[in-house]
Parts: sequence; structure tokens; C-alpha cells
Amino acid sequence: MIYPKDIVEFVAGDPALRERFPAIASIESVNVTINPPEEENCRFEQYMLSEGYDRSRAIRKYLHFLASTYDIFNEIFQFFPKQNQNSSHKDDVSAIGTAPFELFYHALYLYCLDSWGVEGDVIECGTYKGFSACCLSWVCSYLGRRLIVADSFEGLPENETDPYYKKGDFCGQIDEVKANIEDFGKIDQVEFVKGFYETSLQGFNRTLCMIWMDVDLFESATDILTNAFAKLSENGVIISHELFADRDFADGLLKPTIGPSKALHEFFSNHDINYQAVPLENGSGLVVPCRPGERLLISSKCVQYVRDNCRQADGQLRQQISGLEHDIGHWHNEVDKLLALYRSTIDYKLRQGAKLVLGKIGLYRKPGDV
Ligand SMILES: C[S@@+](CC[C@H](N)C(=O)[O-])C[C@H]1O[C@@H](n2cnc3c(N)ncnc32)[C@H](O)[C@@H]1O
Repeated sequence: MIYPKDIVEFVAGDPALRERFPAIASIESVNVTINPPEEENCRFEQYMLSEGYDRSRAIRKYLHFLASTYDIFNEIFQFFPKQNQNSSHKDDVSAIGTAPFELFYHALYLYCLDSWGVEGDVIECGTYKGFSACCLSWVCSYLGRRLIVADSFEGLPENETDPYYKKGDFCGQIDEVKANIEDFGKIDQVEFVKGFYETSLQGFNRTLCMIWMDVDLFESATDILTNAFAKLSENGVIISHELFADRDFADGLLKPTIGPSKALHEFFSNHDINYQAVPLENGSGLVVPCRPGERLLISSKCVQYVRDNCRQADGQLRQQISGLEHDIGHWHNEVDKLLALYRSTIDYKLRQGAKLVLGKIGLYRKPGDV
């Protein structure tokens, strides 16, 4: 799992924490091997959200970034146009192609890359109507990085490898995308590269810390890697859509199945590049070029843990919650007592009723009756 540099330094600088979280204290780069124990049950995430929050400014800042960013993503999702008026495929009826919880991974990873000084801007290849670009433009604005949005703005190109998709699917025109980013994102942070990647990214010359591709097709992913991979900084990462946990991954690598998975597999083996890959959620995957033997990835389980709980990392809120838990415990006891009373009353009434009925049909006699 990856962590921001200032949090690692906080752990390393405290003897008790060093002993408690030795793998985290020994991290020397954004991309490292962490022994599984910290990841099991998300021990360090639990620590950050409870004691760590009160003790470390770095942890508070990180959790605040994650919680507020995730809030913004969810707000964008709520207000973003929902319907694609020019749908041409059953998958592009919706105007939104990703989900806030998926983009949380990008936010978390970019924060960590930034803290470790990994240089470069972010490129988004595959924008459609601009939902993911809106979200990432906030993150880039926070971190002071440029977001390069590259798309044909005419939808998918012709392709020869996947008959599921056809030319023009997922079309978002450039004016429509710009308007959406103006309304929901940080337009000043964004640059646009218009055209099909085969030509539009030729001679691409910007240093990158992240390549984010959501392009559906083998050919498109190959064109991006051919033109832009060389500009990825050391320790930079690729996140791609259409990498499915049960179809595309084997032993930390990608399989030559179809679409982006096949493109990444072929590109790395043709160029003899070592890498590691891990599935995230919803058909996304993280791919990190690395040295042989390194394990450099994030734990989807730990990311989900922080995502689900980061809003509760507030001391006051936690106090209120424990107060509520106490009250609930108290009312539980009261309800139990009332229930017991109620049951005994019912039993008594039932017994009386039964006696009456049995007496009427002559099967029950009170002591003394003849
Ligand atoms: C699935 S959509 C992206 C969804 C978007 N990320 C979102 O969050 O809504 C795929 C996009 O990739 C673009 N695309 C795919 N292949 C391309 C290529 N070779 N050149 C330029 N754009 C391409 C399409 O125009 C389309 O906008």
C-alpha cells in the first residue's frame, strides 16, 4: 500500500509507532513493498482514522483531502447531465462513464505521488462528456498540476479488434465538454488535445506522473502507449479502464485478452518493461512500471476502508458517535425490560383467556368447583 511521505516520516520518527508499523516506517519511496500484516484488516488505516487523526497534522491533512475530494466527486455526479442526447450504443445512454468511487483511487494515488515529489502532469485519454475530467481537474488544481485532456471529441474511431464498439460511440463534442468542465470542474487547470491519438499524441512532450486511459479499444490504448509512455516519470503510474479482475489479471501481470489489457501486455513485453498490475474496482486497473521483484501497488481493500470511513475521522464526530452508541445501549436495556414486561402481561392474559375457554367447555375446573 502507498502512503504520503509526511505520514511515513511521522511514523518513522516515533519509536512506538515504528515498532507498531515497521513496514510503513521503512518505506523509502512512493512505490514499495509492504509486508501484508499492515494491509490485513487495514491496521494502519484504522490507526489513521482514530488515534492518528488526533496526533498528526499530516494525517489530518491527508484525510481532509480524501474526504473533501470524495464529496466533490459525489456532488459533481449528482449535478452532471445524466442523459446522452446522441446515444449510439447501449453503453453510452448515460452521459457519465465512470463513478466517483473509482476516481477516488486516482485522487489518493496522485496525492501520494505528489508528496514523494514525482514530477509531471496528468493526462486523461478518454473524456466523453467530461465527467472524470471534471473530478480530476479538482485534484490537479489542489496539487498544482496540469490536466491534459486528450480525445477525438468525435467518439471512438473505427476498430478491427472489437466488434462490440463502433465508430462514433461515446461522443462528447469539445464545446459540450468545455461547458461541463466550466460548470463542474476547474477549467483553468485543463488543456485540450483534440484528435485521434495515432496523430494527436505524436511527438507528445510533456512529463507525466499519471496516464489515465478510458478508451475501450486495443488500438487506442496502443497509440497512447506508443506516443506518451516515454514521458511517464520514474514512479509514475497508469490507471486504465477495461481491466477486469476475473478476465485480465494473472500473478500481478496482465493477460493478452482484448482491448487495453492486450495493448498493455503487448507493449510491455515488446519493450521488455517490467511492471506490476492490480485490479481496482468496476473494471479499472492500476499498472506500475517497476524494477523486477518489486511490489508496488495499492491495496483495494485499504483504499475502500479509508473511502468508506474518512468522513468519520473527526474527533468531535467520533465523540458524538460514541455518545450515541452509549445512548443506544441504554435504550436497548430499557426496551428489553419493556419487552419482558409486555411478554409476561401477554402470557398472563393468554393464560387467563385459555382458562376461561377451557372452563366453558368443561375441561378446566377451578379448585373447589364441583
Ligand atoms: C468510455 S469514454 C470515456 C468516459 C469518461 N472517462 C467518463 O468518465 O465519462 C471513451 C472516450 O475515448 C475516446 N477515444 C477512444 N479512442 C480514441 C482515440 N483513438 N483517439 C481519441 N479519442 C479516443 C472517445 O472519443 C471517448 O470520448
